[in-house]
Amino acid sequence: MPEKECVGSILQHGLTAFDGQTIVVWASMIGTMAVRQLIVSIFIRAPLIAISSSSFQGGGNHIHSDAVSELIRRRRSIKPSQFNTQRIDDSVVSVLLENANWAPTHGMTEPWRFFVFSDTARESLGHALAGIYRTITPMDVLKPAKADKLVESCRRSSHVIAVAMKRQDSRKIPEIEEIEAVACAVQNLHLTATAYGLAGYWSSGKAICSDQFRDFLTLGPDDRILGLFYLGYTDDEWPDGHRSPAADKIQWFRE
Ligand SMILES: Cc1cc2nc3c(=O)[nH]c(=O)nc-3n(C[C@H](O)[C@H](O)[C@H](O)COP(=O)(O)O)c2cc1C
Repeated sequence: MPEKECVGSILQHGLTAFDGQTIVVWASMIGTMAVRQLIVSIFIRAPLIAISSSSFQGGGNHIHSDAVSELIRRRRSIKPSQFNTQRIDDSVVSVLLENANWAPTHGMTEPWRFFVFSDTARESLGHALAGIYRTITPMDVLKPAKADKLVESCRRSSHVIAVAMKRQDSRKIPEIEEIEAVACAVQNLHLTATAYGLAGYWSSGKAICSDQFRDFLTLGPDDRILGLFYLGYTDDEWPDGHRSPAADKIQWFRE
Protein backbone atom coordinates (compact mmCIF):
# COMPACT_ATOMS: atom_id res chain seq x y z
CA MET A 1 0.00 0.00 0.00
CA PRO A 2 1.48 3.45 -0.83
CA GLU A 3 2.61 5.45 2.19
CA LYS A 4 0.00 8.22 1.99
CA GLU A 5 -2.81 5.76 1.46
CA CYS A 6 -1.68 3.64 4.38
CA VAL A 7 -1.52 6.55 6.84
CA GLY A 8 -4.78 7.92 5.48
CA SER A 9 -6.39 4.54 5.90
CA ILE A 10 -5.32 4.36 9.53
CA LEU A 11 -6.56 7.85 10.24
CA GLN A 12 -9.82 7.29 8.38
CA HIS A 13 -10.75 3.94 9.86
CA GLY A 14 -9.68 4.79 13.36
CA LEU A 15 -7.51 2.78 15.69
CA THR A 16 -10.09 0.21 16.62
CA ALA A 17 -9.93 -1.35 13.18
CA PHE A 18 -6.28 -2.26 13.60
CA ASP A 19 -4.46 -4.32 16.14
CA GLY A 20 -1.01 -3.22 17.27
CA GLN A 21 0.78 -6.00 15.45
CA THR A 22 -0.65 -4.95 12.11
CA ILE A 23 0.40 -1.36 12.58
CA VAL A 24 3.92 -2.28 13.68
CA VAL A 25 4.30 -4.51 10.62
CA TRP A 26 2.94 -1.76 8.35
CA ALA A 27 5.16 0.82 9.98
CA SER A 28 8.28 -1.28 9.52
CA MET A 29 7.45 -1.80 5.85
CA ILE A 30 6.98 1.87 5.18
CA GLY A 31 9.70 4.10 3.74
CA THR A 32 10.50 7.31 5.54
CA MET A 33 11.30 7.43 9.21
CA ALA A 34 8.93 10.38 9.74
CA VAL A 35 5.95 8.42 8.45
CA ARG A 36 6.94 5.35 10.48
CA GLN A 37 7.18 7.57 13.53
CA LEU A 38 3.74 9.01 12.88
CA ILE A 39 2.22 5.57 12.56
CA VAL A 40 4.00 4.24 15.62
CA SER A 41 2.92 7.27 17.61
CA ILE A 42 -0.69 6.81 16.51
CA PHE A 43 -0.49 3.14 17.29
CA ILE A 44 1.10 3.65 20.68
CA ARG A 45 -1.58 6.14 21.62
CA ALA A 46 -4.25 3.49 21.23
CA PRO A 47 -3.63 1.69 24.53
CA LEU A 48 -3.56 5.02 26.35
CA ILE A 49 -7.00 5.84 25.03
CA ALA A 50 -8.22 2.32 25.76
CA ILE A 51 -7.06 2.50 29.37
CA SER A 52 -8.72 5.80 30.05
CA SER A 53 -12.00 4.95 28.38
CA SER A 54 -12.63 1.29 29.16
CA SER A 55 -12.73 -0.69 32.37
CA PHE A 56 -9.20 -1.89 33.00
CA GLN A 57 -9.37 -5.45 34.21
CA GLY A 58 -5.80 -5.66 35.48
CA GLY A 59 -2.89 -7.53 34.04
CA GLY A 60 -2.90 -5.18 31.07
CA ASN A 61 -3.26 -8.01 28.57
CA HIS A 62 -4.64 -5.71 25.91
CA ILE A 63 -1.37 -3.76 25.84
CA HIS A 64 0.64 -5.54 23.21
CA SER A 65 4.15 -6.41 24.36
CA ASP A 66 5.54 -5.47 20.94
CA ALA A 67 4.16 -1.97 21.41
CA VAL A 68 5.95 -1.63 24.72
CA SER A 69 9.26 -2.84 23.26
CA GLU A 70 8.85 -0.55 20.26
CA LEU A 71 8.15 2.45 22.50
CA ILE A 72 11.09 1.78 24.81
CA ARG A 73 13.54 1.26 21.99
CA ARG A 74 12.31 4.25 19.97
CA ARG A 75 12.65 6.68 22.85
CA ARG A 76 15.46 9.05 22.00
CA SER A 77 17.08 12.11 23.42
CA ILE A 78 16.54 14.89 20.92
CA LYS A 79 18.26 18.21 21.57
CA PRO A 80 16.38 21.51 21.74
CA SER A 81 18.51 22.74 18.83
CA GLN A 82 16.54 20.20 16.76
CA PHE A 83 13.14 21.43 17.92
CA ASN A 84 10.92 23.53 15.75
CA THR A 85 9.06 26.18 17.70
CA GLN A 86 5.64 24.51 17.56
CA ARG A 87 3.83 24.64 20.89
CA ILE A 88 2.57 21.45 22.52
CA ASP A 89 -0.94 21.56 23.90
CA ASP A 90 -0.89 21.78 27.70
CA SER A 91 -3.33 18.88 27.89
CA VAL A 92 -0.72 16.60 26.29
CA VAL A 93 1.96 17.79 28.70
CA SER A 94 -0.48 17.02 31.51
CA VAL A 95 -0.74 13.40 30.32
CA LEU A 96 3.06 13.15 30.38
CA LEU A 97 3.13 14.47 33.93
CA GLU A 98 0.26 12.25 35.02
CA ASN A 99 2.18 9.21 33.75
CA ALA A 100 5.29 10.44 35.52
CA ASN A 101 3.25 10.43 38.71
CA TRP A 102 2.73 6.67 38.29
CA ALA A 103 6.39 5.87 38.85
CA PRO A 104 7.30 3.32 41.50
CA THR A 105 8.06 4.84 44.88
CA HIS A 106 9.52 3.20 47.98
CA GLY A 107 7.35 4.01 50.99
CA MET A 108 4.93 5.89 48.75
CA THR A 109 6.91 9.08 49.25
CA GLU A 110 6.30 10.17 45.62
CA PRO A 111 9.34 12.45 45.77
CA TRP A 112 9.17 13.82 42.20
CA ARG A 113 8.41 17.49 41.73
CA PHE A 114 7.97 19.18 38.35
CA PHE A 115 8.12 22.87 37.53
CA VAL A 116 6.69 23.52 34.09
CA PHE A 117 7.75 26.58 32.12
CA SER A 118 6.01 27.56 28.90
CA ASP A 119 5.30 30.71 26.90
CA THR A 120 7.04 33.78 28.34
CA ALA A 121 8.15 31.89 31.46
CA ARG A 122 10.64 29.97 29.28
CA GLU A 123 12.47 33.20 28.51
CA SER A 124 12.72 34.12 32.21
CA LEU A 125 13.92 30.61 33.01
CA GLY A 126 16.61 30.74 30.32
CA HIS A 127 17.90 34.09 31.55
CA ALA A 128 17.82 32.96 35.19
CA LEU A 129 19.90 29.90 34.31
CA ALA A 130 22.32 31.93 32.20
CA GLY A 131 22.74 34.29 35.17
CA ILE A 132 23.40 31.36 37.51
CA TYR A 133 25.94 29.94 35.07
CA ARG A 134 27.80 33.28 34.99
CA THR A 135 27.71 33.55 38.80
CA ILE A 136 29.01 30.08 39.60
CA THR A 137 31.57 29.69 36.82
CA PRO A 138 35.13 30.95 37.41
CA MET A 139 36.08 33.69 34.92
CA ASP A 140 38.90 31.67 33.36
CA VAL A 141 36.57 28.87 32.25
CA LEU A 142 33.40 30.89 31.61
CA LYS A 143 32.12 30.51 28.06
CA PRO A 144 29.55 33.12 26.99
CA ALA A 145 28.28 30.65 24.37
CA LYS A 146 27.22 28.29 27.14
CA ALA A 147 25.10 30.98 28.78
CA ASP A 148 23.55 31.80 25.39
CA LYS A 149 22.79 28.12 24.84
CA LEU A 150 20.82 27.92 28.09
CA VAL A 151 18.62 30.79 26.91
CA GLU A 152 18.29 29.41 23.39
CA SER A 153 17.40 25.88 24.56
CA CYS A 154 14.54 27.27 26.63
CA ARG A 155 13.41 29.47 23.75
CA ARG A 156 13.32 26.60 21.26
CA SER A 157 11.36 24.34 23.60
CA SER A 158 7.63 24.32 23.86
CA HIS A 159 7.79 23.46 27.53
CA VAL A 160 10.75 23.14 29.88
CA ILE A 161 10.25 21.01 32.95
CA ALA A 162 12.57 21.35 35.90
CA VAL A 163 12.80 17.99 37.65
CA ALA A 164 13.38 17.85 41.36
CA MET A 165 13.49 15.40 44.24
CA LYS A 166 11.65 16.45 47.38
CA ARG A 167 13.40 15.03 50.44
CA GLN A 168 11.05 13.72 53.09
CA ASP A 169 11.40 15.17 56.58
CA SER A 170 11.37 11.66 58.05
CA ARG A 171 14.49 10.58 56.05
CA LYS A 172 13.07 7.07 56.26
CA ILE A 173 13.88 6.25 52.65
CA PRO A 174 17.55 6.52 51.59
CA GLU A 175 18.21 9.52 49.37
CA ILE A 176 19.42 7.37 46.49
CA GLU A 177 16.09 5.57 46.37
CA GLU A 178 14.25 8.86 46.22
CA ILE A 179 16.46 9.92 43.31
CA GLU A 180 15.85 6.57 41.63
CA ALA A 181 12.11 7.06 41.96
CA VAL A 182 12.36 10.46 40.27
CA ALA A 183 14.43 8.91 37.47
CA CYS A 184 11.64 6.36 36.96
CA ALA A 185 9.15 9.22 36.78
CA VAL A 186 11.25 10.96 34.12
CA GLN A 187 11.42 7.75 32.11
CA ASN A 188 7.61 7.49 32.25
CA LEU A 189 7.42 11.07 31.04
CA HIS A 190 9.93 10.53 28.24
CA LEU A 191 8.27 7.32 27.05
CA THR A 192 4.90 9.03 26.98
CA ALA A 193 6.43 11.91 25.03
CA THR A 194 7.72 9.37 22.51
CA ALA A 195 4.24 7.90 22.20
CA TYR A 196 2.98 11.35 21.26
CA GLY A 197 5.79 11.86 18.74
CA LEU A 198 7.34 14.57 20.92
CA ALA A 199 11.03 15.26 21.16
CA GLY A 200 12.43 15.28 24.67
CA TYR A 201 15.79 15.83 26.27
CA TRP A 202 16.97 15.40 29.85
CA SER A 203 19.75 17.83 30.55
CA SER A 204 21.83 18.15 33.68
CA GLY A 205 24.85 20.42 34.01
CA LYS A 206 26.32 22.62 36.71
CA ALA A 207 23.96 25.59 36.47
CA ILE A 208 20.85 23.44 36.20
CA CYS A 209 21.77 21.23 39.14
CA SER A 210 23.08 24.11 41.27
CA ASP A 211 21.96 25.18 44.71
CA GLN A 212 21.20 28.57 43.15
CA PHE A 213 18.67 27.06 40.77
CA ARG A 214 17.21 24.97 43.59
CA ASP A 215 16.71 28.22 45.53
CA PHE A 216 15.23 29.89 42.45
CA LEU A 217 12.58 27.17 42.51
CA THR A 218 12.07 27.78 46.24
CA LEU A 219 13.00 24.21 47.15
CA GLY A 220 14.52 23.26 50.49
CA PRO A 221 18.25 22.72 51.14
CA ASP A 222 17.88 18.92 51.18
CA ASP A 223 15.86 18.78 47.98
CA ARG A 224 17.73 18.11 44.76
CA ILE A 225 17.40 19.41 41.21
CA LEU A 226 17.97 16.49 38.85
CA GLY A 227 17.82 18.35 35.59
CA LEU A 228 15.70 20.05 33.00
CA PHE A 229 13.50 18.15 30.61
CA TYR A 230 13.13 20.03 27.34
CA LEU A 231 10.06 19.24 25.27
CA GLY A 232 9.13 20.18 21.75
CA TYR A 233 8.35 18.98 18.27
CA THR A 234 11.03 18.23 15.72
CA ASP A 235 11.01 18.22 11.94
CA ASP A 236 14.19 16.16 11.85
CA GLU A 237 14.26 12.46 11.17
CA TRP A 238 13.72 10.47 14.33
CA PRO A 239 17.24 9.36 15.28
CA ASP A 240 18.33 5.77 15.62
CA GLY A 241 19.62 4.68 18.98
CA HIS A 242 22.66 2.59 19.77
CA ARG A 243 23.37 0.27 22.66
CA SER A 244 26.02 -2.33 23.22
CA PRO A 245 24.50 -5.79 23.63
CA ALA A 246 22.38 -6.27 26.75
CA ALA A 247 24.06 -9.65 27.21
CA ASP A 248 27.33 -7.86 28.07
CA LYS A 249 25.66 -6.45 31.19
CA ILE A 250 23.75 -9.48 32.38
CA GLN A 251 24.75 -12.52 34.37
CA TRP A 252 22.30 -15.38 34.71
CA PHE A 253 22.44 -17.83 37.60
CA ARG A 254 20.44 -21.01 37.22
CA GLU A 255 22.03 -23.39 39.66
C1 LIG B 1 20.20 11.70 34.33
C2 LIG B 1 20.53 12.07 32.93
C3 LIG B 1 21.12 13.28 32.66
C4 LIG B 1 21.46 13.63 31.36
N1 LIG B 1 22.07 14.84 31.14
C5 LIG B 1 22.53 15.14 29.89
C6 LIG B 1 23.25 16.34 29.66
O1 LIG B 1 23.44 17.16 30.55
N2 LIG B 1 23.71 16.56 28.43
C7 LIG B 1 23.52 15.67 27.41
O2 LIG B 1 24.01 15.90 26.30
N3 LIG B 1 22.76 14.57 27.58
C8 LIG B 1 22.27 14.26 28.81
N4 LIG B 1 21.52 13.14 29.00
C9 LIG B 1 21.02 12.36 27.84
C10 LIG B 1 22.02 11.35 27.34
O3 LIG B 1 23.02 12.00 26.60
C11 LIG B 1 21.28 10.33 26.44
O4 LIG B 1 20.34 9.64 27.20
C12 LIG B 1 22.25 9.35 25.82
O5 LIG B 1 23.03 9.99 24.85
C13 LIG B 1 21.54 8.18 25.15
O6 LIG B 1 20.69 8.61 24.12
P1 LIG B 1 19.15 8.21 24.05
O7 LIG B 1 18.51 8.81 25.28
O8 LIG B 1 18.65 8.80 22.79
O9 LIG B 1 19.07 6.72 24.05
C14 LIG B 1 21.18 12.75 30.29
C15 LIG B 1 20.55 11.52 30.56
C16 LIG B 1 20.24 11.18 31.85
C17 LIG B 1 19.58 9.84 32.12
